[in-house]
Amino acid sequence: MTLTGFAQAVYVLAAVLFVLSLAGLSRQESARRGNLLGMVGMALALAATVALALDTSQRPAAVTGALIAVVLLIGLAVGVWRARSVEMTQMPELIAILHSFVGAAAVLVGYGSYLTEPGADTVHLVEVFLGVLIGAVTFTGSVVAYLKLSARISSAPLTLPARNLLNLAMLVVSALLMVWFLASASVVPLLLMTLVALALGWHLVASIGGGDMPVVVSMLNSYSGWAAAAAGFMLGNDLLIVTGALVGASGAILSYLMCRAMNRSFVSVILGGFGAAEGTAASGGDVTGEHREVSAEDVAAMLRDARSVVITPGYGMAVAKAQYPVAQLVARLREGGTQVRFGVHPVAGRLPGHMNVLLAEAKVPYDIVLEMDEINDDLASTDVVLVIGANDTVNPAALEDPGSPIAGMPVLRVWEARQVVVFKRSMATGYAGVQNPLFFRENTAMLFGDAREQTERIVAAL
Ligand code: TAP
Repeated sequence: MTLTGFAQAVYVLAAVLFVLSLAGLSRQESARRGNLLGMVGMALALAATVALALDTSQRPAAVTGALIAVVLLIGLAVGVWRARSVEMTQMPELIAILHSFVGAAAVLVGYGSYLTEPGADTVHLVEVFLGVLIGAVTFTGSVVAYLKLSARISSAPLTLPARNLLNLAMLVVSALLMVWFLASASVVPLLLMTLVALALGWHLVASIGGGDMPVVVSMLNSYSGWAAAAAGFMLGNDLLIVTGALVGASGAILSYLMCRAMNRSFVSVILGGFGAAEGTAASGGDVTGEHREVSAEDVAAMLRDARSVVITPGYGMAVAKAQYPVAQLVARLREGGTQVRFGVHPVAGRLPGHMNVLLAEAKVPYDIVLEMDEINDDLASTDVVLVIGANDTVNPAALEDPGSPIAGMPVLRVWEARQVVVFKRSMATGYAGVQNPLFFRENTAMLFGDAREQTERIVAAL
């Protein structure tokens, strides 16, 4: 077997490993194995690619090898440093900036492929053009997403007049430039399109507001997959095509699922400008009433008497890093014979699976972590619900007030339980900026303060 043939066989194996990896990642119990399979697949793919590059290079193998080693080392150093220092709450911005690398790579591969293969056929020119287009949109889009998520620029949507027309115009101009490019194979239309695509990516994401950023990140994830697939076509690399398509499709599915869980239309998110109007509007100001405050000791007493407890965590648990004392609390209650379960809303926190990751980190047993649909019908027969740093995801207005900005969003019906304790620092609104009538219900008590400190106090009191 030739080296090329062998490398192709390794590629097929790696592709299978990637599929198995994705399958593994879909469940908590198998996520570790999924990650491992993905890493093995990537290591095999890298080894095969390097071997191929050494074999086909026109330079001496030592020179090519040294060049590859240098870039690999730089990438490794930066990657390890970033991954080790990133906080869980900064994960979306890290992912956003990583997507920009994929976009930039697709643009560079496009230019490289165009410059090194003069007189290529039309099919190849189309691949180059589309690869650079998707790559450039992904690049600037991801950079803007990174800047917004890391609060280096304002996360408010940029609402230029006629912004949808502007996007459309940029697409039409790109299409015309493609016709010119195919007819002339000149670098000028390619360069012009690159500029237009960079502007398009920038504008697309700049016009999306803070509330929709996680969806945007997952959408850019999808774009980066398509950019990688386009690079795969240009380089004639089957594995890159397969991997790109996997990432592209899974990113698109994830974006769709997130929109559905927030009751938002995908198109309205993509077209932008909605984040402020719907996502962060301070509405529901007419929701007022008396709220009841309790102390950690009161909650401990409540829990001592309870036979069933459900914990619904949210973004505040992540901010406070309260998952560790929460895990202790759960262990303590379970030792005493209390039934304890978690109810996790699909968009609790700031990224998909956020709560599951935190709870797994604190070694909470998987089998008591249930999804919203699995726990909702049991809430009415629950003695105590602890709402730890969650707000929008437990807001009854979503079901009861058709005028609410989050109307129609499925929520955890915690108010049906006998007692509800809400852990938060103030009466402030959550992510959507909507007041929460739950806080004023008769069976709701507010436990003000940092979720971590308060949970530690409860554990101590128990
Ligand atoms: P949120 O509605 O964002 O509420 C979090 C609450 O935590 C806040 O009201 C805050 O109240 C409290 N908090 C913050 N720091 C705290 C601390 N140190 N100790 C105690 N409490 C603290 O959270 P949620 O219920 O998880 O909802 C998530 C929101 O994000 C939804 O609106 C969802 O649509 C949106 N979103 C999520 C995703 C994904 S994929 N997860 C994607 C896009 C958008 P205080 O300030 O009073 O403490």
